[in-house]
This record gives sequence, structure tokens and C-alpha cells, in this order.
Amino acid sequence: GIMREVMGIDIMEKQLQDLLQVDEVIIVSGNCDETPWVKKELGKACANRMKREWNSKNIIAVTGGSTMAEVANSLSPDEASRKLTFVPARGGIGEAVQNQANTIVEKMAQKAQASYRVLYVPDQLSGEVYASFQKEPAIKEVISQIKSADMIIHGIGDAMAMAERRNSSPEMLKKLLDGNAVGEAFGYYYDENGKVVHKVLTVGIQLDDLSPEKRVITVAGGKTKAKAIRSYMKGAPSSTVLITDEAAAQELIQGN
Ligand code: G3H
Repeated sequence: GIMREVMGIDIMEKQLQDLLQVDEVIIVSGNCDETPWVKKELGKACANRMKREWNSKNIIAVTGGSTMAEVANSLSPDEASRKLTFVPARGGIGEAVQNQANTIVEKMAQKAQASYRVLYVPDQLSGEVYASFQKEPAIKEVISQIKSADMIIHGIGDAMAMAERRNSSPEMLKKLLDGNAVGEAFGYYYDENGKVVHKVLTVGIQLDDLSPEKRVITVAGGKTKAKAIRSYMKGAPSSTVLITDEAAAQELIQGN
């Protein structure tokens, strides 16, 4: 497009890095809303970026979603034979099987010939059940692995699109509408100022766990996700690497 001629992708990456105050931005060409292979390019870019900083031993926590599924598709066995363990970032948050973090980590481990752990925690736990679940030894063990992850890979969704995809209750939809939620990541829903409007109650990584010592790789593209990306990034850790596409990047830069 015209923007691409006027402004090089590398310049956009630097602009977006300054604008969102993140460690690094990687932009792939196109708009994944319109062209499915662009999502594959996002996945490929993420797989390459991940490999660049693995140590001899790594725990990688991963969320769900179709973008994460493309990251899984792009993984291959590690040439350096480093020890990798993939874990879901959080327990169930209402996704259909193909979009669940458990499904994605299994696929990642298969593609990378690595280990994985799953977290079988039902969705929508009541406060009481949630508390007792966390005390289960088997669950506690996976949770401690999740908390010690050195790398966290996640997607971002449009708030209402995600709430509908997860068959959220009318009460929750109303809460999101009343709170003007625009973005979603990790089961947290944000308004345009980055304030948390709603949080899905589940075990695993909580927002406070996203410390700057952990490498966080955010993968989200498509013009329709620009608002969501902006909302989440208001509170994102400085150790964030954003991998996005040209259409979302343009919208983020122009809409600022
Ligand atoms: O939390 C964000 C969503 O999982 C993103 O899902 O990659 O299918 O758009 P998606």
C-alpha cells in the first residue's frame, strides 16, 4: 500500500516501539483480517524470535487462540537440542478445544519434539472450588512450572469478539459493554486506557506475574485488533516483544 512506499517497515517498527514503550516490534507485511497466510507469517516470525533467546533449559508458557496455533505450526525441532517444556499460561477460559492453550502446547511440543504439561482446570470455577483446586498437588506442580516460565507467548483479542467466542454469560457481556472493554489477553479484558474491566477467574499466570525478567512475546495482527493491542499495551511489561502485521501497525500509528 501507499504507507509501505512512504514509510519503510523498519521505520514503522521503531515508531511503534517508541509509541507502545516495548522492547522490540516486528512487523510482517499485509493484514491477517483479509489474508489468512499473513497469520502464518506472524506464527513464523514468532517461532524464529523465540529460538533466538532460548537457554539450555526453558519453560515456555503459552495462551490459546488461532494466532498461537499458527506459532505451533511454525515450530520445528530445536537444532541446538535445548530442553524445552511448553505449559499453558492459564487454566480454562472458555475456549473451544482447538483454541485452548492445552491443545496448543501439545501441538507445540509435537512440532518442536519437546515436553509439555497440561492444566486440566474447568472453566468458570466458583471462588470456593477455585481455591481448593489450587491446593491439588498435581495442579500445584504444573502451576509452579507455569510461574517459573522464562518466556510467555500470547495473543490479544478484540474484547467483544472474544467474549462471544467464549460463550460468555449475558451478565458478563453487559459488564464488558458497561466498562467499554476493547481488548483481551490472558482472560483479562481491558478498556482503552488499559484498565482491567473483567478478569476470568482461573489458575496460572496472573497479570502481576508478567515481570520484566520474563520475556513476553505478544503476537496479534489485523486492522480490527489495533484498538485491542493499544489497550493491552498500556500496561504491558517493558520486556515485551510485539509481533504484528502492517495493517494493525498502520492503524496504531495513525490512530495515535
Ligand atoms: O486472547 C486472545 C485470543 O486468544 C486471540 O485469539 O489469535 O484467535 O485472534 P486469536
